[in-house]
Amino acid sequence: MFREAVFGLILAFLVTCIILQEKRFEELDSAHSHLWNRVEDLTQANQNLSNIVHERKFKELELSHTHLLETVANLTLANTNLSKIVQGRRFKELELSHTHLLETVANLTLANRNLSKIVQDSSNKVAFTAGTSGAGNIGTGSIIAFPVVINNEGGGYNPGTGVFTAPRSGQYVFFVSAQGYGSNTLYVSIIHNGGAKVMTMSDGGRGKDFYDSGTNLAALNLQQGDTVWAKCQSGSSYYSEGIPITTFSGFLI
Ligand SMILES: *[C@@H]1O[C@H](CO)[C@@H](O)[C@H](O)[C@H]1NC(C)=O
Ligand SMILES: *[C@@H]1O[C@H](CO)[C@@H](O)[C@H](O)[C@H]1NC(C)=O
Ligand SMILES: *[C@@H]1O[C@H](CO)[C@@H](O)[C@H](O)[C@H]1NC(C)=O
Ligand SMILES: *[C@@H]1O[C@H](CO)[C@@H](O)[C@H](O)[C@H]1NC(C)=O
Ligand SMILES: *[C@@H]1O[C@H](CO)[C@@H](O)[C@H](O)[C@H]1NC(C)=O
Repeated sequence: MFREAVFGLILAFLVTCIILQEKRFEELDSAHSHLWNRVEDLTQANQNLSNIVHERKFKELELSHTHLLETVANLTLANTNLSKIVQGRRFKELELSHTHLLETVANLTLANRNLSKIVQDSSNKVAFTAGTSGAGNIGTGSIIAFPVVINNEGGGYNPGTGVFTAPRSGQYVFFVSAQGYGSNTLYVSIIHNGGAKVMTMSDGGRGKDFYDSGTNLAALNLQQGDTVWAKCQSGSSYYSEGIPITTFSGFLI
């Protein structure tokens, strides 16, 4: 009987245990289900959030992209504008430089013309000095030739004939210095186109050896081709040395 009772108790205990275990299982199962649902919800929420984030990011990217496109378009326009400005400036600079160059060329052309004139003027200079190399005897009325040429700028003086021919028109100055020989009284005139203009006189001292000198100067207005020479107007002999004493000079002023 007792054994039966104990057995019954044990059985009851076991049944209770089983029942309790069953309950616990159900409870656990329910908790598990609940947790599972929660996980699913959270996963969904996470997915939603993820989607939102993605969407936002995409929109942000889209916005950023649009902004970038607009910036690029603005910069391209600005660049085009700047290019135009730079080109415009460059053109203006070139124009200015061109004007400056034209002015420089004009100035240089003028300077060149001025210099050419100076060079031409200097090449148009006329001046000569010629002398006799020693004492000489010439007849009255003869042209005195001065064979020793000291200077003959412009080539107007002819040492072979003693005649000066004006290479160009202008105001000329002529000078003669005639040294009479011993007691010979000598008159030398400056002749322009055949006409005597001025004359020198060297007085021979009436028989004594005076070797007197006579000089004279004439400023003459010559046309190109006019001739001027020194003429023995009266007397015959003149005196000179290696360094000429009796001389004839002329120059254009
Ligand atoms: C997830 O989004 C769907 C529709 O977009 C919505 O019906 C649901 O309630 C959201 N769930 C959670 C947990 O946010
Ligand atoms: C582009 O230019 C326009 C007009 O000048 C301006 O309103 C806009 O803000 C600019 N956009 C950007 C992105 O610089
Ligand atoms: C470009 O030039 C145009 C007209 O020339 C002007 O309307 C515009 O504002 C300029 N844009 C920029 C970015 O300089
Ligand atoms: C040209 O000459 C004028 C007058 O002499 C002067 O004022 C000007 O500066 C010169 N121009 C140049 C480019 O040399
Ligand atoms: C050229 O000569 C003229 C007058 O003869 C003068 O006015 C001018 O300044 C000169 N110019 C130059 C560049 O020498």
